[in-house]
Amino acid sequence: MAKETSSAQGVWARKDLLGLEGLSAQEIETILDAAASFKGAPVSDALASRTVAFLFSEPSTRTRSSFEMAAHRLGAHVLGFSAASSSLLKGESLLDTMKNLEAMGVDYFVVRHETSGVLEPIAGLVRASIVNAGDGAHEHPTQALLDLFTLRERKGRIKGLRVVIVGDILHSRVARSNIHGLRALGARVTVCGPATLIPRQIERMGVRVSHDLSAALEDADAVNVLRLQLERQKQNLVTSVSDYFQSFGLTAERLKPFPDCLVLHPGPINRGVEIASDVADGPQSVILDQVANGVAVRMAVLSLLDQARGRG
Ligand code: CP
Repeated sequence: MAKETSSAQGVWARKDLLGLEGLSAQEIETILDAAASFKGAPVSDALASRTVAFLFSEPSTRTRSSFEMAAHRLGAHVLGFSAASSSLLKGESLLDTMKNLEAMGVDYFVVRHETSGVLEPIAGLVRASIVNAGDGAHEHPTQALLDLFTLRERKGRIKGLRVVIVGDILHSRVARSNIHGLRALGARVTVCGPATLIPRQIERMGVRVSHDLSAALEDADAVNVLRLQLERQKQNLVTSVSDYFQSFGLTAERLKPFPDCLVLHPGPINRGVEIASDVADGPQSVILDQVANGVAVRMAVLSLLDQARGRG
């Protein structure tokens, strides 16, 4: 996170949102409470004079679309910047690109990048606020916030919940942000997957490790299913996709003993790889609730950052 700290109850004082690591329970709850107030609320003009630019050098469906919807619902101008056809391809650095766009009047950058930690050294060098929309295998804070929001909405609390995160933990920025957020709010987290997809010493993040999904699901309030990020795997870390599904795929049969366990997935879903279709579309799934809640959570993030800039 950027160096600024937030202090008073219900007050957000950070310029940027780069990750959930280091955020207090109070800061996270401030965002979740703000999101609750935005959910179903009419559009506003709170950010009417602001410009939000999107710098995405990796694909996105949900994050980019819902951030754009959030910005529109707050009355902001959205800059249709395409990283893929920009001078980034001519060797211009991300920092120089941001400084040039900032000179044109951009107030907010929403950035997705393939490099873990790319935003930390940049955040202090630009006046605009930066929101991390996913950096490598590092963090994806707004995804975790909408996961937390959905869990809190459905279960009434986060503290004391038992949450299993199953899948490609090694490459998952969603897993890392979820672990930071869930632990900060007092949930108990188990990460589950083959040993090749679990980072060494992940227990230091305050989680348990399991290689047996059915055992991990015992007493679980929710399971967050992650896809295999084959595009980030430099070597074969699973014997085959069908072997993976056999051992770690969330099937109706595997879920049947646990009817109160919510099923989350950040998307994109690979049906028949990490989750069966009848589970993804079944009664325990809150996957589309997560997507819907993403708009309110992103409205909350932009709005709170704006207040911290003294312009709210
Ligand atoms: N969950 C998520 O980040 O989805 P997108 O890659 O489609 O944005």
